[in-house]
Amino acid sequence: MSIQMKASYFEEFGELDQIKTGTLERPEPGEGEVLVRVKAAGVNPVDAAVARGMLNEVIPAEFPAVPGWDMAGTIEECGYAAHRFQKGDQVYAYARRPTVQHGTFAEYISIPESYVAKRPQQLTMVESGGIPLVGLTAYQALFQFGDLQEGQTLLVLGGSGGVGTMAIQLAKTVGANVIGVASEQNQDYMEELGADKTIDYKAGNIGKAVQNVAPDGVDFIFHCSRGNSLNQSIDTLKSGGQLISITNRSPEIPDDIKFQYVFVEPNAKQLTHIQQLADDGHIKVPVSKTFDLDEVATALQEIESLHTQGKTVITP
Ligand SMILES: NC(=O)c1ccc[n+]([C@@H]2O[C@H](COP(=O)([O-])OP(=O)(O)OC[C@H]3O[C@@H](n4cnc5c(N)ncnc54)[C@H](OP(=O)(O)O)[C@@H]3O)[C@@H](O)[C@H]2O)c1
Repeated sequence: MSIQMKASYFEEFGELDQIKTGTLERPEPGEGEVLVRVKAAGVNPVDAAVARGMLNEVIPAEFPAVPGWDMAGTIEECGYAAHRFQKGDQVYAYARRPTVQHGTFAEYISIPESYVAKRPQQLTMVESGGIPLVGLTAYQALFQFGDLQEGQTLLVLGGSGGVGTMAIQLAKTVGANVIGVASEQNQDYMEELGADKTIDYKAGNIGKAVQNVAPDGVDFIFHCSRGNSLNQSIDTLKSGGQLISITNRSPEIPDDIKFQYVFVEPNAKQLTHIQQLADDGHIKVPVSKTFDLDEVATALQEIESLHTQGKTVITP
């Protein structure tokens, strides 16, 4: 007889209030997979987009589909040939798969052990569950696709959100100067994370504000917001500078800059590096709100406003 678990799920794409919470079959770990008891699952804007069917062309779904790509939890069972972990190990992972079906807004998930890393011990389980997607996004943007160096000036557009929170802190670990951009209420928040200068995008033209604090221009722009913040600030990027966007695949940009669009990939090795940085005290995860499984629709409605601070986390 199959084992059941509590999960949030949707049976077709559409409005977020049609997401239900109920009982589904627990996914069993296949070869090379581990079964994880999910204790915390970060909520990301993409989860709302997935439930609305906006990514269906690239990542199809099988219904009933459980949303959620972030998780921290404990290893419950190891499948055949899965040897890296033992029952009870505390882990975290970015669990995006080629198909949307078994997500992390559930009591259990089975995923390849190659996606999984030990979670930071200096952070709580809830804080750990808020890291993987945003942590890997910022890490890959700054250090894998980008090449942020000590002493360079980084402009983070959207510095108070999930990704921006990680970007500011990761940039400080390599000794970059960071200018964070968010609304007025988040200026102190970005400073507490380590931003050297902050700008309120509602107070006037962002480009002019950047010129005031960095008259020679910036070396790197990390674009993790929407709106027209990139148009306003692109001219502050030095010739030969780097632009990484996670929200715009083809922005209008001058010829003399290096541009890449990044779509975050699972990567356990990078998660291990982030775990080490967190355990050394370099990464905080301010969790602004937690929700239980029955409240997933509300959590997704809030996250798609794109004005939540830090992380929102589901605790299944
Ligand atoms: N390509 C990828 O792999 C990838 C990965 C992760 C996320 N994303 C996308 O990246 C974006 C950010 O994700 P997130 O999780 O960090 O979202 P989030 O937590 O909602 O953060 C949004 C940030 O943008 C700021 N912001 C809002 N409007 C702005 C504007 N007009 N100008 C400048 N900043 C503005 C917000 O500040 P205030 O609250 O102060 O307004 C906040 O700092 C989302 O669109 C998400 O879908 C893409």
